Amino acid sequence: MNLIVRDGLLVTPEYMLRADILIEDGVIKEIGRGLRPPAGFEVLDASGMLVLPGVVDEHVHMREPGLTYKDDFEHGSKAAAAGGVTTVVEMPNTLPPVDSGGRLLEKAGLLKPKAYVDYALYGVVHDGSVDKVKEMLEAGAVGFKVFLGPTTGNIPPPKLSSLVKLMELSEQHGFTVAFHAETHEIVEFFTERYKSQGSSPRLHELARPPLAEAHAIRTIGSIQEMVGGRSLIVHVSSKQALQAVSEFKNRGVQMYAETCPHYLVLSSDDYDKYGALIKVNPPIRGREHAEELVRALNTGLIDTVGSDHAPHSPEEKKAGVWDAASGMPGVQTLLPLMIDLALRGVVDLRRIPLLMARNPARLFKLWPWKGEIAPGSSGDLVVVDPRAEHVIREEDLYYKHKTTPFIGWRLKGRVKYTILRGNIVARDGVVEGRPLGSWIKPVDNMASKRF
Ligand code: DOR
Ligand code: ZN
Repeated sequence: MNLIVRDGLLVTPEYMLRADILIEDGVIKEIGRGLRPPAGFEVLDASGMLVLPGVVDEHVHMREPGLTYKDDFEHGSKAAAAGGVTTVVEMPNTLPPVDSGGRLLEKAGLLKPKAYVDYALYGVVHDGSVDKVKEMLEAGAVGFKVFLGPTTGNIPPPKLSSLVKLMELSEQHGFTVAFHAETHEIVEFFTERYKSQGSSPRLHELARPPLAEAHAIRTIGSIQEMVGGRSLIVHVSSKQALQAVSEFKNRGVQMYAETCPHYLVLSSDDYDKYGALIKVNPPIRGREHAEELVRALNTGLIDTVGSDHAPHSPEEKKAGVWDAASGMPGVQTLLPLMIDLALRGVVDLRRIPLLMARNPARLFKLWPWKGEIAPGSSGDLVVVDPRAEHVIREEDLYYKHKTTPFIGWRLKGRVKYTILRGNIVARDGVVEGRPLGSWIKPVDNMASKRF
């Protein structure tokens, strides 16, 4: 817990600077050149390396409780540590779903002994739980999730009146609501239409058109225009969705957007190669969508990049296109894929600490304890060697089922060390030590409701 990271190139949203970082009792104490560690401090030489804040992944489905045949928190949080993620915000579409204060507390206790990184929890809002939002907040929820479209867990979309109530509460209490923004009825209609047209994996894309995303976003934004509140549109996958988000942002609505690496580095041309392995909701789309998403990362229209880590068993992924489960694991490859894009000049390197640490931490009330390299913040860092290369190998992946398309991909840069509150928890992709992760509740510093 007492560590000095010496002579790395700090990468923050504002500057890149060669400096030492001194972490005492798990907290960043000092940043500067030529710092002298007090006796007993471990020294990590980071010369020639990039030092970024530990990644805050606001979008993981680690499947506990109830779905542990897909994966569990021990495997998932080890994968996070290996990939440079030090905080995960865990999704609530489990069995049972996290839709009450009691279930949230139970889940927090269940995860604790298996946590290799720190974790925070979402509650889920459906018609039956909208009146339990305050109870879930008091239990320690950092935000809420709403599923407007059909996906794993089959949580029904809330009525419009429930959404109004929820956004009123969001305005009042300053929490963020993460939306799976695909309108249910549109997805159902097009799924029925294309089911009769065969079993090509490409049909998944047609069954969930951009219209479903744009329509859902306009519903959410219209409610926010009247009652306020803060939304995060997760896994934005299309140009049309971006267009809808930008309209509301331009009108001053507090709407934020997340995308995921698979929407940036894959396209519908890949269905022939990977089949249902890349079936995910919303779907992987044409290259023109990926290009627009990359542009939006660089211009600030997109605010966060999360993994949407969503593992399933190999049997579930092998079923034909209509029956296969949607989602792929991603927490371990999240940062490596983004670093590769940065080192190839596709994404500005300084946007990574913004999109993958500061912004998610702020949206979910974890900031400035998480998401920042600054005195007083948690000593969570990731050290990356920009000159090394990294080949994604099946045997290095920590989650139970290696159902990822990225095996064999060669990436620029390599995550060398992951540091959680001053402890080195992974070296060269190998997780060390015991589970040191803890449950993080909201930092109550949202004096200003604008983020
Ligand atoms: O493809 C997906 N899988 N999209 C989601 O929204 C949920 C996720 C899951 O939990 O499997
Ligand atoms: Zn998800």
